[in-house]
Amino acid sequence: TNLPSVAQTQSAYFPIGTIAYSGGISGVQGDLVTKHFNSLVSENDMKWNSLQATQGVFTYTNADAQVAFAKAKGMKLRGHTFAWHQQVPAWVFQDANGNALTPSPASKALVLQREVDHITNVLNHFAPNVASFYAWDVVNEVIDPSQADCMRRSSWYTLTGTDFIDTAFRTARALLPASVKLYYNDYSTTDAAKLVCIQKMVAGLKSRGVPIDGIGHQMHISLNYPTPAAVANTVRTLATAFPGISQQVTEMDIKINDNGPFYTLYEDIPASVHAQLGYAWRNYFNTFRQLNGLIDSVTIWGQGDNHTWLTSGTEAEAPLLFDTSLKAKPAYWGVVDPS
Ligand code: XIL
Repeated sequence: TNLPSVAQTQSAYFPIGTIAYSGGISGVQGDLVTKHFNSLVSENDMKWNSLQATQGVFTYTNADAQVAFAKAKGMKLRGHTFAWHQQVPAWVFQDANGNALTPSPASKALVLQREVDHITNVLNHFAPNVASFYAWDVVNEVIDPSQADCMRRSSWYTLTGTDFIDTAFRTARALLPASVKLYYNDYSTTDAAKLVCIQKMVAGLKSRGVPIDGIGHQMHISLNYPTPAAVANTVRTLATAFPGISQQVTEMDIKINDNGPFYTLYEDIPASVHAQLGYAWRNYFNTFRQLNGLIDSVTIWGQGDNHTWLTSGTEAEAPLLFDTSLKAKPAYWGVVDPS
């Protein structure tokens, strides 16, 4: 069709990204990706359990296909992700007999060595294509504001303290050129307590000389929450606290509402809700653009509502720009036509 390309309408402001998944980069879905986006991130295929499900056995088939696609289409890539408490295989935190490691200096050394080995293998593998990458989510979702020390009680944390964070950034930095910026990526960054924790963690990293270039705001959000003003406040707060830090929107999608109304079937979602979503996308993108360079990349966590992690067997969601048939929705128009 002759719809304006999302990427072209945003290119004066930031690259506009979307996810790649097996089956999503061929046929009409692949054409949609190519036409509307100029940045790509693997939805799952660069996570630890995809690349090294079994210790020492690395599987790059899907990730390589996505990198080759991006390269062929002249798209840039975000890498995602190294240190995360999810989609990491159990063996990382087990001994040779498959028993859970208990905290000790030896366990800590073992887990940190596994982390270094993983990151090293992955970045050596992608080294020939490193020019296509511009960002990497090195550490993902490690903050829990309900803890006095702000740190999520994951196996990473239990076995290494916060050293897994420093080690991930240092290892990645040693293997990547400065053109690939390194991110801490998290959700709910507008939460006041979480924002304080993020600032504490980043300040700590910087004081120890740990190389971090930026903060990723996932932005898995709801129709009415958080407000665009709250997002702008978070971005400005971090920009002021850490002059020159890069900030990116890394995984945006909009749920109808966390507390309902819920719709069982996609067809049940009323036109009025699609319209409200359209206004929401418009308002958020107006804010991103008005932040005038403070946000330097925006990635949407999917293309059409046919493929979204938010729709379950009992709940239909319409969180993306295109519908389940890949037709443009009000959400699309909200992004490309802010008038
Ligand atoms: C999600 C994927 O979209 C799903 O397919 C998968 O089952 C779970 O992970 N935060 C992140 C992303 O950093 O990697 C997650 O992606 C969504 C939440």
